[in-house]
Amino acid sequence: MRIPVFAANWKMHKTGLEAVAWIREFAVATKNLSAADAEVIIAPPFTAIAAAVEATRGATLAVAGQNLHFERQGAFTGEVSAALLKAAGADLVIIGHSERRRIFGETDESVQRKVTAAHTAGLVPIVCVGETLDERERGETLAVLDRQLKAGLDGCSGDQIAALILAYEPVWAIGTGKNATATEAGEAHAHLRRRLREWFGGTHADRCRILYGGSVKPENIKELIGLEDVDGALVGGASLESSTFAAIVSVSATL
Ligand code: 13P
Repeated sequence: MRIPVFAANWKMHKTGLEAVAWIREFAVATKNLSAADAEVIIAPPFTAIAAAVEATRGATLAVAGQNLHFERQGAFTGEVSAALLKAAGADLVIIGHSERRRIFGETDESVQRKVTAAHTAGLVPIVCVGETLDERERGETLAVLDRQLKAGLDGCSGDQIAALILAYEPVWAIGTGKNATATEAGEAHAHLRRRLREWFGGTHADRCRILYGGSVKPENIKELIGLEDVDGALVGGASLESSTFAAIVSVSATL
């Protein structure tokens, strides 16, 4: 039995003050939801992490970074290491988001180094994989997922696989309003689970949570979360309003 996870990726939105206001509103909107129903994660920009950590003290919300640099410290102007994130109070970190891969040139190799750095610092990685529209239209979806998964998780132990969070985010569904259909998401998630089983063993693979991301909203979450291998959602645009994200998270009480 996997507890569903709902993660809010705020991307480059929200100051510390805005984060605190969101957290307060969200707490009120979800006061009837039990921690056994769902785990909830927010990923603010680096500059709002400390304020978010302070505001979530005593709450069941966990805080994640949106990226990290794989070196522990050094002359890397503008970068933030896993150790710095951990010291700021984050417990998780998003790695390999398609915006990082596409806009900032991240590779499968850098994803792997970041996953290792996160584990070394005691952060839980949220590893993103997903195909572009071109890749889907060429029939390469599963091959792309295999490549990203194999390279990104290379060197992980079974226990690390069980604890980490995987996110299937088809690039064509991100910020477009066009989510994957149940058939498309179901096929990709089942494939990812099958590969995790092959490579890391069934016991560990069956504990890993695999989230869907890409135009998730209150109107489509029920169908997506109803799929066997969809264990929650990584939400961008619809997480910016606390009430909308609360509506998404609230479906977990009906599962
Ligand atoms: P949207 O929910 O805005 O499509 O973004 C998804 C995403 O990139 C989450 O990481």
